[in-house]
Amino acid sequence: MLATRYDSWGKLAELADHKDLSLHELCADPDRTSNYTKTAADLHIDLSKNLLDDEVLGALLQLAQEAGVAQMRDKMFGGEHVNTTEDRAVLHVALRNPADSHLTADGHDVMPEITDTLARMRAFADKIRSKQMLGHTGKPITAVVNIGIGGSDLGPVMVYEALKDYSDRSLTMRFISNIDPTDFYENTQDLNPETTLFLVASKTFTTLETLTNATTAKQWLLRSGADESAISKHFAALSTNQDAVEAFGIDADNMFGFADWVGGRYSVLSSIGLSVMIAVGPENFDQLRAGAHVMDEHFRTTKLDDNLPVLLALIGIWNRNFLGLSSEAIIPYSQYLKRFPAYMQQGNMESNGKSHAKDGQRVDYDTGPLVWGEPGTNAQHSFFQLLHQGTNKVPVDFIGFTEPNHNIGEHHKILLANMRAQAEALAFGQSTPDEPHKNMEGNRPSTTITADKLTPHNLGQLLALYEHKIFVQGVVWGINSFDQWGVQLGKRLATDILNNNA
Ligand code: F6P
Repeated sequence: MLATRYDSWGKLAELADHKDLSLHELCADPDRTSNYTKTAADLHIDLSKNLLDDEVLGALLQLAQEAGVAQMRDKMFGGEHVNTTEDRAVLHVALRNPADSHLTADGHDVMPEITDTLARMRAFADKIRSKQMLGHTGKPITAVVNIGIGGSDLGPVMVYEALKDYSDRSLTMRFISNIDPTDFYENTQDLNPETTLFLVASKTFTTLETLTNATTAKQWLLRSGADESAISKHFAALSTNQDAVEAFGIDADNMFGFADWVGGRYSVLSSIGLSVMIAVGPENFDQLRAGAHVMDEHFRTTKLDDNLPVLLALIGIWNRNFLGLSSEAIIPYSQYLKRFPAYMQQGNMESNGKSHAKDGQRVDYDTGPLVWGEPGTNAQHSFFQLLHQGTNKVPVDFIGFTEPNHNIGEHHKILLANMRAQAEALAFGQSTPDEPHKNMEGNRPSTTITADKLTPHNLGQLLALYEHKIFVQGVVWGINSFDQWGVQLGKRLATDILNNNA
């Protein structure tokens, strides 16, 4: 069903037309911040600087009800085939379920396989971390290179960077994604083939970039004097496609699988995250999973008006469809989260960049916004000028942590002061009638998400928070957030061009 058919849609359009919402006025209410700050597990989300009041929020919640958000959520958690174009369940939430739980999809309990794979991943990671995994000349593996692209790269690299503080610094971790040969060259030129392990991460194991880079990696190893038998000591595969993995020359013992109901951009907590587990250790990886599970449970069990992914999604819809704001910036005030915007960019744009509803109708409203960002404070000295004075309003998600990972001088205090200052400047601006070039209109919305510290558990919560936000928006817009047919045409044309030039 198209979202414009819901009663609440018309009501919201009317509210957007008639209300002259001013953040100055809204935030003059001394209770505004406490009323509009919500907490789930360890995340505190201040929604007060968004351009909405209780009436708008009420209509947005009605929209969620009319769209059947709770029912669709229950279907997803229940293993129903909510990915309709691929006729699949969507069960990345199962990846973070406790080991003793049960979840039935397609007639069988999916948990034993997840638990078995995790146990094999732990043993593999521990062997590397304890330097007992040896390369073909008997030297311990000390460098791990993940080869993957899209969800098979962005998730692992984002989490690795985010949790670098928890990583084993005696291991060299690298991530190769681009088909541009410089990516392979730069990430291997200083590595020793005798001590390097490649993880070939590809859900389908058919992706041209990944298979080309993996083939180059094989040649790189063989060129160093190793023979074919060395491949089993230097390659592992993270995939759903055992036949293709074996055809590539990696045997099943070195393959870590997952089910097809884990979408690529939702796969970092499946075996696709093996590089992360090797870097930060199985306990931290479990903490990450546990954090995501806490947020899954919040999303699954909390009523809509206190449900954080639901609220974030609805505010995003208000901004996109009723205030006409076409993009969203994610600005983490944490250098460790430098890849988080790029990761969420795929999560959002590949999921909700669609123009046909599930029933095949062309939508008559906008769907997923452009999502982008960089960490603060660097972002302030690059594109924040446009956020403050440009002709487009861009809603911002600020993400910050009250405690630093490293207590060095006044750095963290300055970092957080900047984050708060930006939210205020966007909301309230400044009026300089005599100097129009200094005038800042303000009334620019933002949301601030904080937690005590950047830990694996908090990162897991953050990751699941955004995943479920995307899900809720997809439900309201009536689209399938779990396919990505839009990338197929380009892939086919590239293959045609290659074949014609051959
Ligand atoms: O081309 C898009 C895409 O299919 C993404 O959805 C996915 O994350 C990426 O390519 C990589 O796919 P795979 O893991 O199958 O190599």
